[in-house]
Amino acid sequence: MGDETRAHYDHLAPVYDQNWAYSPDFLEWMSGCILARLRVKYGDRVVDVGCGTGLYARRLAEHTGSVVCVDPSARMLERVPDDPRLVVVRASAEDLASGSTVLPRGQFEAILVKEAIHHVADRGTVIGGLAKLLAPGGRLLIVMLPTSIEYPLFQAAHDRFRELQPSPEVVAAVMGDAGLAVDLSYDDFPLVFPTERYVAMVRDRYLSLLSMFDDEELAAGVGEIRRRYPGEWVEFRDRFAFVLGVAS
Ligand SMILES: C[S@@+](CC[C@H](N)C(=O)[O-])C[C@H]1O[C@@H](n2cnc3c(N)ncnc32)[C@H](O)[C@@H]1O
Repeated sequence: MGDETRAHYDHLAPVYDQNWAYSPDFLEWMSGCILARLRVKYGDRVVDVGCGTGLYARRLAEHTGSVVCVDPSARMLERVPDDPRLVVVRASAEDLASGSTVLPRGQFEAILVKEAIHHVADRGTVIGGLAKLLAPGGRLLIVMLPTSIEYPLFQAAHDRFRELQPSPEVVAAVMGDAGLAVDLSYDDFPLVFPTERYVAMVRDRYLSLLSMFDDEELAAGVGEIRRRYPGEWVEFRDRFAFVLGVAS
């Protein structure tokens, strides 16, 4: 992981869960979307790559009994609950794919990569490497934002996001090239925040995208958000792509 990404998540780690704890319904909904696609059962061997603070690994572990939680950010991993069902490994997706951090090949029924694939530069190699970890019939689920989002951000942030975000269709094609049977689906969830709460999240740079703006640019962006959304609440649909690949 690059220095900028590491610095971003080191800074974000203490407030990461707080931002999402505000919306337990969202966590439930997203967990349901993941579970419906991964279709795990008790005893399945599962890896959460780019697990962050383990927000979703915790929920997966309730269904499988254990989850290997992999993330390159020590600060994020420090926030994974101290629970024997969550086995923490400090590594990147690239480390797993290259074998420099060794997980057994052909052994995992499920691998989750949620909102981390945009941090991976060589997606072909990494997705190919992760596919090799799957047991026959195993599932790789990449959860990611689409290339355009409805978040109440400032224009420059939307523009930058569109430039940088990989396309779920391209990720699906890469998964197909890795020999997986691919299904791409979308789901969305209506989010409502007090405008002040959302502005505080933007100030915390709750999206890694926002770490690309310096303090002055961010302050100008917050001003623009306030002008565009003068009401007490902001409402938007949080839409996600779910790229599922199944090993034969
Ligand atoms: C937006 S957070 C998502 C965390 C968690 N999956 C969730 O949904 O709450 C992105 C995570 O990806 C991790 N990350 C960054 N670069 C990575 C890489 N090359 N391989 C694996 N994880 C990476 C970050 O450290 C961070 O914890």
